[in-house]
Amino acid sequence: MRDTFYITTPIYYVNDVPHIGHAYTTIACDAMARWKRMMGKRVYFLTGTDEHGEKIQKSALLKELTPRQLADQVVVNFQELTPALTISNTGFIRTTEPRHYTAVQDLFRKSLANGDIYLGQYEGWYCVPDEAYWTDLQVEDGKCPTCGRPVERRKEPSYFFKLSKYQDRLLEFYKENPRFIRPESRRNEVIAFVEGGLNDLSVSRTSLTWGIPVPDAPGHVIYVWFDALTNYMTGLGYPSKAPEFETWWPADLHMVGKDILRFHAVYWPAFLMSAGIDTPKSVFAHGWWTVEGQKMSKSLGNVVDPFDMVRKYGADAFRYFLLREVSFGLDGDFSEKELIKRANSELADKLGNLLNRALGMLSKYFDGVVPSPERGAETLATKPCENAPLCPEGSLHLSGESRKAVEAVGAAMEDVAFHKALAAIIELVTRANEYVQSSQPWVLAKDPSLRNQLGTVLYNTLETARIAALLMAPFTPTASQKMWDCLLPGGKPVEEARIDTDSKWGGLAAGASLPKACIVFPKIEV
Ligand code: MSP
Repeated sequence: MRDTFYITTPIYYVNDVPHIGHAYTTIACDAMARWKRMMGKRVYFLTGTDEHGEKIQKSALLKELTPRQLADQVVVNFQELTPALTISNTGFIRTTEPRHYTAVQDLFRKSLANGDIYLGQYEGWYCVPDEAYWTDLQVEDGKCPTCGRPVERRKEPSYFFKLSKYQDRLLEFYKENPRFIRPESRRNEVIAFVEGGLNDLSVSRTSLTWGIPVPDAPGHVIYVWFDALTNYMTGLGYPSKAPEFETWWPADLHMVGKDILRFHAVYWPAFLMSAGIDTPKSVFAHGWWTVEGQKMSKSLGNVVDPFDMVRKYGADAFRYFLLREVSFGLDGDFSEKELIKRANSELADKLGNLLNRALGMLSKYFDGVVPSPERGAETLATKPCENAPLCPEGSLHLSGESRKAVEAVGAAMEDVAFHKALAAIIELVTRANEYVQSSQPWVLAKDPSLRNQLGTVLYNTLETARIAALLMAPFTPTASQKMWDCLLPGGKPVEEARIDTDSKWGGLAAGASLPKACIVFPKIEV
């Protein structure tokens, strides 16, 4: 087992400002990156921008800018998006950087030397906004099959990559690596597509000027996907002999939207096979968001601005909603009303309430000093059990529930099922709230002979809140850090916590002085 984990977002086009779709992929990667760190892995997390191509050239022209000027302006939005969403990326790549030119040209040369690139003539239907060529069969009524906008007829000299040659090898590869494409349903789609036969792929253009020059072929620039996909290696220093590339490659997980899965699951491994480079371990395709039941579009004026969401609700609530609301991999519908509902009913009323109820009682009954769990456990063990939550089984109950939650989150994260991980955490918090309700510490507090039981109930509740804070850290990093500070004052940052050791029952320190409140998820007023 390697102790490294390399995860990537797609690189985002700079012809427009970031929207919820970009935020979604990046947040999903961030949650995974943070989780892997807590699992003890060294993580490299790359994101960045895709700055070449016709789309950007055209947008720049409209704005009377050079493509470079446009890219320099728009990239700032993407660079600012990462701290706004509390993203923990370790690298940021722009495809206009010299290091990327070196990488793309090197990959091109390798493929050429291996006889997989040849000069031909390209003719087809081209959709400018999608930067995709389509065949006669794919185009209906002169419209792009994915976006429905009009396509143009194009013919020009072009270098081709022998994708057709890789059909069998790809099919073999999918068979040997059943987890390469996830989720399963998407994997079947890709396999069916490859089984249908692959055409060679045009990888250069003479009509385009805004791109990376084809080595030794004046007039040709490298066509978008060959350029864009290579970013995943550029980010690690490819083709230099520095140790970074060896350390991190092959990528463990390329996270992408369902619309760009084919490029990652078919073209990318074929390019790498051709150049004799290891193929990535897996590609996961997530679904798309509609907004209040409608497709998100500029013309409808319903594009969700992630900066706006963060200003209104905070990064934690926004992150939480996106990963909790839909089964990761399926499409979902975004609405602020639902976001508020989720954040209030789960983050504020369940998690925030658990923590604050327990801290409030700790302050009231124990002057805020954490009672010793041993003392409580001892008493409980020697007392006959009449009242379920107070008996040893009662205490064991929450430690068992916590262990179950840790395991469930671990399994969910292995499956890239963020929604399941969050459901398991909320389930744990619900159990803990029920435990408080049924143990009635406010009744125990009235009888001095039940002081140890009272201490144990509060210990168990706070300890469960601590474990919930730990498990929430990949999803709501800021709030988790606050909870962690409230429960373990002066301790290490939650980012440095490790699931294997810090999720063990008993991490809450007896004798520690805790605050009487810890406001982490204020109720969102409608
Ligand atoms: N530049 C290419 C990717 C190259 S990767 C080598 C690109 N860029 S993009 O800016 O158009 O899109 C980036 C990501 O945003 C994609 O993963 C896409 O699926 C995602 N989304 C765009 N709109 C979306 C929604 N409405 N909902 C969810 N994600 C969506 O493609």
